[in-house]
Amino acid sequence: MEKTQSMECNDQETAKRYDPTFKKRFGIRTPILYAWDLVVEPKNKVRIQRAWRRFYKSTEPTGSKRRRARFEAFFNRLHSAGDDLAWCQKVTISYLGRKVGYGVIATEDIPPNEILNHYAGYLRPDADISAENDSTFALDDFKNYSIDAMHQGNWARFMNHAPEEETNVTAWEHYAEFGPRIIFTAGKKGVKKGEQLLYSYGEDYWEARKPLNLLKALRK
Ligand SMILES: C[S@@+](CC[C@H](N)C(=O)[O-])C[C@H]1O[C@@H](n2cnc3c(N)ncnc32)[C@H](O)[C@@H]1O
Repeated sequence: MEKTQSMECNDQETAKRYDPTFKKRFGIRTPILYAWDLVVEPKNKVRIQRAWRRFYKSTEPTGSKRRRARFEAFFNRLHSAGDDLAWCQKVTISYLGRKVGYGVIATEDIPPNEILNHYAGYLRPDADISAENDSTFALDDFKNYSIDAMHQGNWARFMNHAPEEETNVTAWEHYAEFGPRIIFTAGKKGVKKGEQLLYSYGEDYWEARKPLNLLKALRK
């Protein structure tokens, strides 16, 4: 389950200021470290592995066989490539303004249901994640664990929220022997070039504040 991040720069001074992979692939300067898969901290490794094994043995797979096979094929390709570069080609990350920060924009038409990428970051017990952290993905069934992409992740952590009926991206939980993952597919209509990729964070996320309507909000 443990995967390490891929850093393409040995220049520690540069890496402190911004991540070279985000800069190279998307042209943005961010201190967020690029990770192409889940990262498990050594202190959590044994605990998470045990909890995962117990959970995985006792849980029936969800979703259709066909969908699970597609998702498994994606993770097989990703893990043998050792990088998610192949799933970075159809999107870019753009600054949308002070209120929202960055968002992910399609650089070409993306067909309906195409696999986009998955949500990379730290796999952590919820107890280790600060309540202030707004960049986590809580796992519905593997309760008490989340993927924390506050300081480390891939482009998926820059996707913003829209209400379910206005989304063009769907998030799925995928449970495999190697661990839990969140995978994103394009919606039924696909994503048009220039559109922002939006999925629903769920109502709970917005209990304390109101989301903006981002369907048409592009750049400042
Ligand atoms: C996971 S981050 C998404 C990427 C973020 N825009 C950034 O620049 O890092 C989640 C945060 O993005 C902003 N955000 C996402 N969707 C939004 C929406 N519909 N309206 C307002 N803010 C939104 C909120 O600040 C939220 O806490």
